[in-house]
Amino acid sequence: MNVNRAPREAQPIYVGLLGLGVVGGGVAHLLSQKSAALTAEIGRPIVVKSVLVRDLARRRSIDVPAGQITTDPDAILDDPSIEVVVEVMGGITPAADYIRRAIRNGKHVVTANKEVMATRGVELLQLAKEHGVDVYYEASVGGGIPLIGVFRQDLVANEVDQIHAIINGTTNYILTRMAQDAVDFAPALAEAQALGYAESDPTNDVEGIDAAYKLAILASLAFRTQVSPEHIYREGISKLRASDFRYARELGYVIKLLAIGRRYATEGGDEIEVRVHPALIPADFLLADVNGVFNAVHVQGDLVGNVLFYGRGAGAQPTSSAVAADVIDVAHNINAGVANRIPFHYAGRLLVRPIHQLETRYYVRLWAADQPGVLAQIAHVFGDYRISIASCIQKETDLSAGAAELVIVTHPAREADMQTALRELASLGCVRELANMIRIETVS
Ligand SMILES: NC(=O)c1ccc[n+]([C@@H]2O[C@H](COP(=O)([O-])OP(=O)(O)OC[C@H]3O[C@@H](n4cnc5c(N)ncnc54)[C@H](OP(=O)(O)O)[C@@H]3O)[C@@H](O)[C@H]2O)c1
Repeated sequence: MNVNRAPREAQPIYVGLLGLGVVGGGVAHLLSQKSAALTAEIGRPIVVKSVLVRDLARRRSIDVPAGQITTDPDAILDDPSIEVVVEVMGGITPAADYIRRAIRNGKHVVTANKEVMATRGVELLQLAKEHGVDVYYEASVGGGIPLIGVFRQDLVANEVDQIHAIINGTTNYILTRMAQDAVDFAPALAEAQALGYAESDPTNDVEGIDAAYKLAILASLAFRTQVSPEHIYREGISKLRASDFRYARELGYVIKLLAIGRRYATEGGDEIEVRVHPALIPADFLLADVNGVFNAVHVQGDLVGNVLFYGRGAGAQPTSSAVAADVIDVAHNINAGVANRIPFHYAGRLLVRPIHQLETRYYVRLWAADQPGVLAQIAHVFGDYRISIASCIQKETDLSAGAAELVIVTHPAREADMQTALRELASLGCVRELANMIRIETVS
């Protein structure tokens, strides 16, 4: 804790903004529009002194005086009068480097950057501790939904057992269209791109990479251990078809791209599971009603029980709400002459269970020859790997190909067994196509 700084009421707190895009523009607008209210709240004005961009000629949604906008990072990072650096550039390089330099120069940092916090977060928080400054990152997960502060402060007395999260608005928009309007994946993605919800290169969203970054941040906080994106098992949504949503609904489920974290107590110590993949969830589970670009995070703690955080996970205003809240918190700390009020520490590294140890129920959709004896062959393969079938329903029939579509739901089985059984099924002469396997997520 740094107690050397005396309160300096009335003097402005100068902020340097790295980036003036969707979020940076929103933050600059908010800090100027709400300037009087913020001054009243903090007792001192918060003033954006300099803004870093790549391209000075680019048209902006907000007017910034020419003298305040720069392409030179040193103008912010080396300016001793700037106490708070707000990093809203995105990407790891050079953002992580600029954050390091800001910290080393004694500046507090507020960032919305999930890539940086998921991959370099521990190092940066440690560095901030050493330099007596704060790094706040509320906007890095869930846009305007309070989550980081919730795990750092509000739920800190809990042992968090489970997190189930819909934390990527792009994929949730696509899945909602597929579920509600029977649109297939490719047209639903094209529509999301036309509406500006998906990037022209949608890989980060549809392959679950963005959700894995966010889960790494949330799981690290929730389980007080270092979870990196590479620890997280990940599958995207591109294999889903409109028919999967129809069959899921008939079975009483909804399909969502879930980010899941679970803690297990074992004799050898706690272990965690961290995974991002499409999942069937019961239609009466709260997350089943989270539609469109909305995000939600369902948390189970030993004291609090179940809590749900729901709202807009992106956009200029919701995200600036989170960034501004962090800036205000930092300003209060500056006024009080403190930093690192909530020390950063992890209890130790928990073992991350590999996906093949997962035990869950499965939905399998396949096309098989429409002839006697086929069901018995399929059931035999599942039986060989201790997978018990809860239901098997014949759906469509393709008369010209002599094939029938089967939807199989299993009782709980081991992932390793399921994967071996699927490989064996694919090699059976009677199985024409293994169309999809989706895990069924039960929330206890
Ligand atoms: N958009 C959202 O709804 C949202 C929600 C939550 C979190 N975030 C996070 O917030 C961050 C910013 O996102 P955004 O959507 O605002 O991005 P954006 O619209 O692409 O804006 C990025 C800004 O950073 C500037 N910039 C990028 N690289 C630079 C470099 N090397 N040197 C100088 N300036 C550079 C750009 O300058 P130019 O304008 O000159 O190109 C631009 O002003 C990202 O980490 C993102 O993940 C975004």
